Amino acid sequence: MKAKELRKKYLDFFVSKGHSVIGSAPLVPENDPTVLFTTAGMHPLVPFLLGHKHPNGQRLVNFQKCIRTGDIDEVGDPVHLTFFEMLGNWSLGDYFKKDAIEFSFEFLTSPKWLNLPMDKLAVTVFEGDSDAPFDEEAYNHWNRLGFKDNRISKRPKKDNWWGPAGQTGPCGPDTEMFFWTGPENEIPAVFTPDDKRWVEIWNDVFMQYNKTESGTYEPLSQQNVDTGMGVERVTSILQGKKSCYETELFQPLFDKIMELRKISGENLERSKRIIADHLRASTFIIADGVVPGNVDQSYVLRRLIRRSIREGRKLGIDCRFTHLVAEKVVDNYSDVYPELGANSGKIYEALSNEEDMFEKTLEKGIKEFEKLIGKVPPHIAHKVISGKNAFYLYETYGFPLELTEEMAKEKGFSVDKEGFDKAYQKHQELSRQGAEQKFKGGLADNSEMTTNLHTATHLLHESLRRVLGLHVSQKGSNITAERLRFDFSHPEKMTPEQLAKVEILVNEIIKKSIDIKCEETTVEDAKSKGAIGLFVERYGDKVKMYSIGDFSREICGGPHADNTLKLGNFKILKEESSSQGVRRIKAVLTK
Ligand code: SER
Repeated sequence: MKAKELRKKYLDFFVSKGHSVIGSAPLVPENDPTVLFTTAGMHPLVPFLLGHKHPNGQRLVNFQKCIRTGDIDEVGDPVHLTFFEMLGNWSLGDYFKKDAIEFSFEFLTSPKWLNLPMDKLAVTVFEGDSDAPFDEEAYNHWNRLGFKDNRISKRPKKDNWWGPAGQTGPCGPDTEMFFWTGPENEIPAVFTPDDKRWVEIWNDVFMQYNKTESGTYEPLSQQNVDTGMGVERVTSILQGKKSCYETELFQPLFDKIMELRKISGENLERSKRIIADHLRASTFIIADGVVPGNVDQSYVLRRLIRRSIREGRKLGIDCRFTHLVAEKVVDNYSDVYPELGANSGKIYEALSNEEDMFEKTLEKGIKEFEKLIGKVPPHIAHKVISGKNAFYLYETYGFPLELTEEMAKEKGFSVDKEGFDKAYQKHQELSRQGAEQKFKGGLADNSEMTTNLHTATHLLHESLRRVLGLHVSQKGSNITAERLRFDFSHPEKMTPEQLAKVEILVNEIIKKSIDIKCEETTVEDAKSKGAIGLFVERYGDKVKMYSIGDFSREICGGPHADNTLKLGNFKILKEESSSQGVRRIKAVLTK
């Protein structure tokens, strides 16, 4: 079964169980400053897991593109990926453990669906601790479906608990399904996930708690189900392949890399995987509007591209090549993710520019390297490049340690690897702290304030269009619990009069106490009704259109306040330049 068929079967199955199909959200979370990337299918749904009403109802299903960079150094082995797709079904306060487990069981074992043999399946459930009790209910449902005690493993929180994605937010015990990938005659009598030949294929999370800032677990007002099944992993299992890299999701990329390579490095497989993984991720990230740079998402992107270039050099690829691999990604996925086709020009350009830039820093780095070794007097017997200097080359010029070592060897130098590791680890700690800072506040920041600020952003957008003209369109939006920040196209500084007009207009609409309406519709219909909106091409067939009376109409993922009065008083704090032709407004809501 190909990935394409797996996606379709999954959607069809859950539609037959009353679920609505929703689109894959962008990789860069909209209006959520707490995480860099969408890391799981549930991530864009957090507001709805916390109780906001979803316009498509209480049963949802989709496939979602995700990025996880936590294991990035592991990429290159047969299983780790930076980009992956997750199939998921959700119950927003509708069905709970019984149905979720029965659905999973039927989809996995029924001859009509995946038809996996029962004797190769096993499950885990949460064993319980001082925060929450043993998940006896999940245990009993599996047991009733035919899983004996030796096929159900009880696990602690570190294995069988999901979330919150930030430090606070929705979470709960989960039950995970495993598939035996070893030889048939070696299936162990008693299942334990410690035997790595059992591979996790699906995770049903029972979200029944909200982790608060003080670290306590409070019952959620609604009980939700969040499930996740990795497309790459399950595709390879269904095809009896040892690794997802052996499936059609990667083969065309590998073929291209093999065509371009000049030498068979010792680590050919590893290099191939890193290049394919990193460039697949980069292609999707660029399609969602990111360009390589030095901060946040753009820095992650830069590292992915540069690492693939270095691996390419190891294979003797000496021309610009990243766009050629990206072409294969675009070919492979455009039917499912049309944003790739729509942005292909932009993708190839960004990759090629980054390759040019990297080449220049490489040249500079080589000069710097020569300066460094030139300082060592020739009569010294043990010539060593210090860890600090090796790290400097890594940090400033993107020199991997292996490259410094190779160059050092040619000149009769060795490298203080331990010193490098120390400097590197210190750096990692610092950047991890940085990452944690970003997660601080967590996804629970989908508080009433951020929702209200989101609605205020729509009012601001429309007011700017009415005061300044229809050339105004959104270039960026970022909301924290304190303020909104809105970037929009406009060629010059706004005058104090214009700012006052905009502020008055927004407040006038707020005072009219208008109910915010959300409709599910098609892009064409929304456009014909005059809706504005970003990223139209990203949303697949169905879109959500939010209307605030007949004042504003936008295609948007939500959530929004239900009535404008909730917003209170709107106040612009600042108007400034953001970049060429783009202005930025920061504004707040007060009581
Ligand atoms: N959120 C869970 C996961 O990522 C299930 O979707 O595994």
